[in-house]
Amino acid sequence: MDLTIDLGFLKLRNPVLAASGTFGYGLEFKPFVNLDKLGGIVVKGLYFNPRPGNPPPRLAESASGLINSIGLQGIGVRAFCEKILPQLQGLRTPIIVNVCGETDEEYAAVIDYLNKDGRIAGFELNISCPNVKKEGRCPALSPEHTFSLVKLAKESSRLPLIVKLSPNVTDIVSVARAAEEAGADAISLINTLLAMAVDIETRRPRLANTFGGLSGPAVKPIALRMVYQVASRVRIPVIGMGGIMTGRDALEFLIVGAKAVEVGTANFVDPGASVRIVREINEFCREKKIKKIEDIIGTLKIDEVQASR
Ligand SMILES: Cc1cc2nc3c(=O)[nH]c(=O)nc-3n(C[C@H](O)[C@H](O)[C@H](O)COP(=O)(O)O)c2cc1C
Repeated sequence: MDLTIDLGFLKLRNPVLAASGTFGYGLEFKPFVNLDKLGGIVVKGLYFNPRPGNPPPRLAESASGLINSIGLQGIGVRAFCEKILPQLQGLRTPIIVNVCGETDEEYAAVIDYLNKDGRIAGFELNISCPNVKKEGRCPALSPEHTFSLVKLAKESSRLPLIVKLSPNVTDIVSVARAAEEAGADAISLINTLLAMAVDIETRRPRLANTFGGLSGPAVKPIALRMVYQVASRVRIPVIGMGGIMTGRDALEFLIVGAKAVEVGTANFVDPGASVRIVREINEFCREKKIKKIEDIIGTLKIDEVQASR
């Protein structure tokens, strides 16, 4: 079975990557999975300097979902290069760094610092971070800001640039196209959906931050719709995610046009989920006599009337 995926700028052993923020820096999952069996690892979001994240409580469970307001806690680029990367050396799986910034200049500074490091395969630009200069608005909420930030990041980057979109918009295609026009090598989506939960005993929000991001199976149908819309309207590869728990979920994303998938919240339920999903995709292909996983990508059967919707 040939599970390899060619993204054009990067060849993956298989289409399954670990999603940012749900797999630590990869090391935390070493006791549970053979990291070399993954298509790739996207490490948790990195700002230039260390960040404590938001105050607790910052996780709340909901029906088939998880609401988090971790607030992009992280160790910063210097500690990442000095303490984490040496421990990941020898791994055959590509490491992709999820890049964050409170300002556009901070995104560029993170990229500039990491560019020189030969141990990273690429960047995933997390344009869903609040931007202090734009009164806390995320770049991904506007096609114009997405364009200017991606252009700056692309000019700064010597490595492939995947741009990760937010689902908290009405027109996801216009944001994806802005990223493509600005030079993105690939698009990944979706990040979490803005959400909240209330404790009816105390009548207080269940998260100290009031709002958080919803992920897990609850968001999968929305993620799938957005991945389909974007994949059919851009020429660059699309990496899909949102609620993938099984190989069958991953296959839905590939069928609507994703070239690869990322597995997030599933890692909290089953630390072995990512590698299990690779195995389940493999089993499905064998059962259906599909020789190459790439043959299944974008094969959604849809008639003209349905496609016009
Ligand atoms: C606890 C937690 C932390 C996350 N941290 C990040 C992050 O640092 N950067 C990022 O781009 N996305 C982050 N995400 C979003 C995930 O990478 C993913 O886009 C989202 O959760 C949807 O996929 P899922 O339903 O499979 O989790 C985080 C999600 C969770 C649940």
